[in-house]
Amino acid sequence: MSELPKFVEFHEEGPREGFQIEKTHYPLERRAALIDALSESGLKQIQVGSFVSPKAVPTMADTADLFKAIKRNPDVRYTALWLNKKGFELAKATPEADMYAQIMFYASDAFSRANNNCSAEEMRDRQANWLEMYIENGLEVKNAYFMTAFGCNYSGEVPLSAVTDYVKWWVALCHDRDVKMPALYLADTVGWANPEEIKRRVGAVRELAPEARIGLHLHDTRGLGSANVYAALQMGVDLFDSSVAGLGGCPFSNHGDYGASGNVCTEDMVFMCQEMGIDTGIDLDALIEAACLAEDIIGRRLYGSIMHSGSLMSHRARAT
Ligand code: COA
Repeated sequence: MSELPKFVEFHEEGPREGFQIEKTHYPLERRAALIDALSESGLKQIQVGSFVSPKAVPTMADTADLFKAIKRNPDVRYTALWLNKKGFELAKATPEADMYAQIMFYASDAFSRANNNCSAEEMRDRQANWLEMYIENGLEVKNAYFMTAFGCNYSGEVPLSAVTDYVKWWVALCHDRDVKMPALYLADTVGWANPEEIKRRVGAVRELAPEARIGLHLHDTRGLGSANVYAALQMGVDLFDSSVAGLGGCPFSNHGDYGASGNVCTEDMVFMCQEMGIDTGIDLDALIEAACLAEDIIGRRLYGSIMHSGSLMSHRARAT
């Protein structure tokens, strides 16, 4: 076990993952105002939206317009998600989007088919082409995501080997193509992780790619989000995706009784870090104000805890 990191980076996903799962298409100006509020909190990276099929996710159809509507803070990277080449081309045609290359793997074949309309193996093979596409476009690969790395609502347990096989494949490709190892993100897409599994899987990936920074994309669907973040911190992980007010979820991962709602909540995780003496570069008051704004936009009580704690009611009053 490592010492706790001194500084932890949170990448905000609420504007994309938070709104992709909502049935309502909230007004663009209000979503832009939320991104602007988040931009003032010290966050260094905000995912604005996704370039995916508008038939599949209607609430992301205006992502290009949303990019145009935000007030850019030069200290913030404004990013987008894509899952196929068409999405990449659309992102590239949006000058306001900060382009960076991302690679995507699915540890679960069933989820790959539900989310990406192709098998996990096909998606893996596409990544070699994506890598060429990124090299041709002069983009450095910043992240490689391993989705459903802890479990899947369709197929249940995801064996560790399903993750490590793809990591090995990717590490070999990077070595072969002389590509600098990007951050390797283990994504608990549907909230199946527990603290011991976090340690086991982070440890296994680190052994395969000791030079890689490891990131985690965690969901709090079953209440283990902060315990999982703490376990990761104990492993020295210093890079997390999270969502303001605990928004989030993938609409294609719901299966039977299993949902996937609720990413780990940015302001709650920032609060936890601050309480333990870990710097995040984030102004918690400003972030709570953004969380209250998110709640006002969505129009129902959201999942964040610290935003609703009595001692911080003044923040709530100020935002409404
Ligand atoms: N942006 C806009 N439209 C897109 C698109 C994109 N990135 N990708 C595909 N489309 C459109 C095509 O133009 C086509 O439209 P048409 O029916 O009017 O001709 C239609 O979608 C089907 O295209 P196809 O190439 O067959 O894509 P697909 O059916 O294999 O879809 C995905 C693959 C991944 C793009 C699609 O399933 C999708 O966008 N899913 C959303 C997944 C998601 O956002 N998950 C949450 C985040 S993890």
